Amino acid sequence: MCGIVGYVGRSEAAPILLDGLRRLEYRGYDSAGVAIVNGKGVETRKCAGRIAELANLMAEQPPSGNYGISHTRWATHGKVTDDNAHPHFDASGKLALVHNGVIENYQALKEELIRDGDADFVSDTDTEVLAHLIGKLYDTSGRGNGNTPPQSEKSRLVAAVRAALQQVIGTYGIAVVHSDIPDFMIGARRGSPLVLGVGKEENFLASDVSAIVAYTRDAVYLNDFDIVAVERDRFEISSLAGGGADYRVSKVEFTAEDIGKGDFPHYMLKEIFEQPNSVRDAMRGRLSSEECSAKLGGLNMTPAELRDVERIVVTGCGTALHAGRIGEYLIEQLAQVPTEAEFASEFRHRNTPMIGNTLVFAISQSGETADTLGALRESKRKGYRTLGICNNVASTIARESDGGVYMHAGPEIGVAATKSFTSQVVILTLVALLLGRMRHLSTADGSEIIEALEALPGQIEQVLKLSDSIKAVAKKYASANGMLFFGRQHNYPVALEAALKLKEITYLFAEGHPSAELKHGIIALIRPDLPSVFIAPDDAVFSKNLNNMEQVKARKGPIICVTSDGCAEKLKGIADDVISVPRTLDFISPILTVIPLQLFAYHLAVELGRDVDKPRNLAKSVTVE
Ligand code: AGP
Ligand code: GLU
Repeated sequence: MCGIVGYVGRSEAAPILLDGLRRLEYRGYDSAGVAIVNGKGVETRKCAGRIAELANLMAEQPPSGNYGISHTRWATHGKVTDDNAHPHFDASGKLALVHNGVIENYQALKEELIRDGDADFVSDTDTEVLAHLIGKLYDTSGRGNGNTPPQSEKSRLVAAVRAALQQVIGTYGIAVVHSDIPDFMIGARRGSPLVLGVGKEENFLASDVSAIVAYTRDAVYLNDFDIVAVERDRFEISSLAGGGADYRVSKVEFTAEDIGKGDFPHYMLKEIFEQPNSVRDAMRGRLSSEECSAKLGGLNMTPAELRDVERIVVTGCGTALHAGRIGEYLIEQLAQVPTEAEFASEFRHRNTPMIGNTLVFAISQSGETADTLGALRESKRKGYRTLGICNNVASTIARESDGGVYMHAGPEIGVAATKSFTSQVVILTLVALLLGRMRHLSTADGSEIIEALEALPGQIEQVLKLSDSIKAVAKKYASANGMLFFGRQHNYPVALEAALKLKEITYLFAEGHPSAELKHGIIALIRPDLPSVFIAPDDAVFSKNLNNMEQVKARKGPIICVTSDGCAEKLKGIADDVISVPRTLDFISPILTVIPLQLFAYHLAVELGRDVDKPRNLAKSVTVE
């Protein structure tokens, strides 16, 4: 996790790098730095803190030059200090490197470099080892001797990067410059994303295209083990093992405007309000009224193969897993296919016995989450068919899955995921509908589901109109000491998701539970300063939820209830605050019940003065384990 931006061209590198870093700040934001090269050497500015602090530093002493690299950090090794901020340097001070990932064998490499007297380390990062190692290999090899002619400086640097990376265990996306080699930078990746932006007489490297889309929409999404040598007007991609590598220049599907905040104060609020469209886009062209089913060509599976599926595992992390947990209910209910939702990090290392025809879904907004990618690769290794549900179409998970369904939700910048969650649930509903219609779901059931799905964008508009009243409820509970969230069946994962949203952006303690678990222990926590939020639409388990609310009320616990239109009367005297959403089918209700709770967390966080889009200690895309 962290963001990398590199530039080689004719313009001043500093403003381009800074602009790119600002767009990548969601990936990591504890320190930042740039290394810009000009005829006099490398000019470095770096500091702990946000990009704004780096910008101040750069404004005081503007670095000048036409090529350079930059980084916004999310520390994995070494505290958040100026010295640990990237870029890091080799012993000569001429080679600068930025890194996203973890060098797992950095201790062994470091000891070797120190023992050989090749390096004085100034930081506690794993990254610095790589800078020293590449620098040492560059300085000591390829200069030619009696038998071999000297290589060009550029080839020598590529060879040094290759040789160093061959010694590395771990993950990396890197960008490297050397002050002796003008207008030249090298990028390489393994496990952390890296994109080459192809411009006119200028080229870019970035962890994510959003950093460079304002300058070019032509991009090469590098693969693991690619090394790219980048100049102003050319680039060359080779593989870590040596030899060429396949690549394709693709058009980025969104523009710089799409990644702006528009008139919204925060990305998170903008993204919450985008949900009528993102939900519509998740099902666009995928509903067949004729067949009363869903069309998901991207799964790359024949009807016979889909009918033969005996078991499904849905895996992901955080919000994506919560969507997967709703998928577990949906697929079992509509298609009667045994389904398990499992933390990607656990699934990957657990030796789950899997029966023959198991299908594995990896859900990930970014498509780069290391734990989810690990689970996907482990499933592939075991020979299971893997399908990705991703938002980022060029991501590693999307590319490495056997097939999948794109969310088409547009860029999600707010660190707290919102619109990606509802898109994921819509897609899982489509999967359940498709599998169900191949089994026992009738045409009548199928068209009822399609009708309910088609009504969703309009219903979400209705829910969004509640934003101001939800803000008033959030203000009322601003001094709470924490919150509990309860739901049953399809809305139990909504309780988990709502609790996660609250934790992430308000820093309040929060937990989500199945409502019935209350009496098995959690009830001991109930007290007047700990509100309980019940997600209780008017579904098959509404009256059971009502009982649980009574249990909380009897112990003087405040209650907020998210319910269906027309239920407020039944909640009188029980819930202190009621938020009503439009009615829909029971198993589709999570898409409507989660939205008020996204807004609730948002307004509460603003009320508490939190940094909503960049909450402390978090980063949007977790590309480390
Ligand atoms: C969501 O609000 C979180 N920031 C986090 O749990 C996130 O959902 C998780 O890291 C998975 O990300 P992904 O969807 O990009 O794989
Ligand atoms: N491991 C490196 C560090 O801690 C890079 C972390 C990152 O990917 O941001 O500095």
